[in-house]
Amino acid sequence: MQQVSYPRRRFAELLSMSESELDATEQAALDQLGEAKVRYSSADLSRYRELTRRYPPQIAHRFQLFLNFKGGTGKTSLSVSYAHRIAEMGHRVLIVDLDSQAHATKCLGYDGEALDETLYDVLVHKRPIHEVKIETPLTQLHLLPSSLRMATIDLQLMPMSSRELRLKKALAEINGDYDLIVMDAPPAFGLMNLNAIVSAQDLFVPVLPDFLSFHGLKLLFETIDDVAEDLDHELDRIFVVINQFNPTTTIARSAREALESHFSEYLLPSVIRQCTKFAQASSEGVPIFLFDPSSKGAQDIQRIIDATLLPRGGEG
Ligand SMILES: Nc1ncnc2c1ncn2[C@@H]1O[C@H](COP(=O)(O)OP(=O)(O)O)[C@@H](O)[C@H]1O
Ligand SMILES: [Mg+2]
Repeated sequence: MQQVSYPRRRFAELLSMSESELDATEQAALDQLGEAKVRYSSADLSRYRELTRRYPPQIAHRFQLFLNFKGGTGKTSLSVSYAHRIAEMGHRVLIVDLDSQAHATKCLGYDGEALDETLYDVLVHKRPIHEVKIETPLTQLHLLPSSLRMATIDLQLMPMSSRELRLKKALAEINGDYDLIVMDAPPAFGLMNLNAIVSAQDLFVPVLPDFLSFHGLKLLFETIDDVAEDLDHELDRIFVVINQFNPTTTIARSAREALESHFSEYLLPSVIRQCTKFAQASSEGVPIFLFDPSSKGAQDIQRIIDATLLPRGGEG
């Protein structure tokens, strides 16, 4: 991921300050902060938060999974922007790339094939996550990367004891290092995704507003019911998120109505609109909140965060 560099106004916003409050802070702490700057880094963000004691309100510790067995629904685009944004807000986030296509790894600017170790080594060789994870230039965001080697993971896991629990056990060891663990699932049904479901408390299901996606959801919910029964794992919360919504097409509007009537219990009222910035941002390996924080995509992700982030103690 490229070095984070915020212009002054945006930096003040991230600290929930006006620019004049930022001026005053810098004046008052000249000896510690030095002269006012034009651009700020992610390390500055942490330093200023410490100095001003402006921390975000604490959030509940959660394991979250972005899942849909269908490809191209936005799992990677949404999970990467969501995780990056929550880290930017000041929380400690680990994003786990579960997909052998390693798109989440790429969206953050890394090449899985060039890395010595990935999630594969964690699952197959029991390498500790804290030794395999990558620290990104956004101090609070860490990545557990993937690579093409993950394509054989189901075969590797098959003969292992407690093969459905390998990921959950590995993640248990880093419990406490992060506020949020966000997993980006592959578009397949198999052992890897079974591992992912039993590791998750919250499920985000991005769907496209068309009827093929609508039918795919039925299989997904059946699988979740099976997991609940066979592996004794209940999810706490499920959010169906409509992605790439374009209100000018009839098909999108009627698919939304169909989702509203069949999945009202799970459907988030706000949608992610179609936004070309997602494709541009990921091709440059930059999360959308750095690429264009005022884009429709960034605004819509923020709305999803505001609607779903649990305060500490709010776990129920
Ligand atoms: N809201 C959106 N608007 C426009 N394009 C999007 C949006 N969300 C995702 N895309 C694009 O759709 C494609 C598939 O998205 P991706 O996140 O890779 O899906 P998945 O991980 O489910 O396979 C990518 O090219 C991505 O840039
Ligand atoms: Mg993906």
